[in-house]
Amino acid sequence: MDMSETAKALKNSPVIDSEEARLAQEAADRSAPLPPDQINVDSMKITQHWDKYTDENHEVWGILYEKRMEHLATAGSNVFLQGADIINLNRKQVPDLRDVNANLLPKTGWSSHGVPGYLPAKSFFAFLAQRQFPTTITVRPKTSMDYLPEPDIIHDVFGHVPLHADPVFADFLQTYGKAALYTNNEDHTTRLARLFWFTVEFGLIHEDGRTKLYGSGLISSDGEGHHALESDKVDRRKFDLQTVCDTDFEIDHYQPILYVLDSFEQLRDAMVTYAEQILDEVGRLDELETISG
Ligand SMILES: [Fe+2]
Repeated sequence: MDMSETAKALKNSPVIDSEEARLAQEAADRSAPLPPDQINVDSMKITQHWDKYTDENHEVWGILYEKRMEHLATAGSNVFLQGADIINLNRKQVPDLRDVNANLLPKTGWSSHGVPGYLPAKSFFAFLAQRQFPTTITVRPKTSMDYLPEPDIIHDVFGHVPLHADPVFADFLQTYGKAALYTNNEDHTTRLARLFWFTVEFGLIHEDGRTKLYGSGLISSDGEGHHALESDKVDRRKFDLQTVCDTDFEIDHYQPILYVLDSFEQLRDAMVTYAEQILDEVGRLDELETISG
């Protein structure tokens, strides 16, 4: 299958009601020019028809779950491993978001919700600002197990959602969402995109005297995960928010530069400082008061 056929096959998955998905995608597309307070994230959500996952879907999930967990048992951040345990990810079956949320909501107030596909940037940030994570719900085909250009539930739920069970990361991500949602400054938008890339997607953290993985692109990809820790071609730099925000990133190949956190508190505190500046500029400093931490 080429890329577009794979994308089409994912869209046609029986776990998605195609009419519901069409309406949700229209709502997402229509939301693009709206001011932040008028974006209605509920209109973009779709139902995960969990009983419609095929045997192949559960098999692919199980194979990739086992392969990654074998590596992550020692290479993954403790915060990821604890989070995966809290939301009860397991090799047996594709996660049901109702079960994930039943475990996640009481911990941190975060939840995950199926969406039909690409969301406009501000809509994505509107989800985060409300402690909600929009996720794709399809599973990659067995023929594309090692690499898929589009996100699927393995990237989105296995890769991203476990960290949402950590109170410190949970507050960081909501603070990020609020800053990214309310800013109307292009320079901040560019800098925040880089911050997301080098933390949420490709972040490393120092734990137990060694460097470990927490970014979803490293958690969910065997190739990226091993390369990030083992390659001598990777420049692993100490995290500093201003430096990260100044660093351009490259897509479509293994990352040559990665940033290593000392702790998630370091990330949260740096984000709060930056968000105070951004939200003050648009008169929305009050938005930070509603963040629980
Ligand atoms: Fe991602």
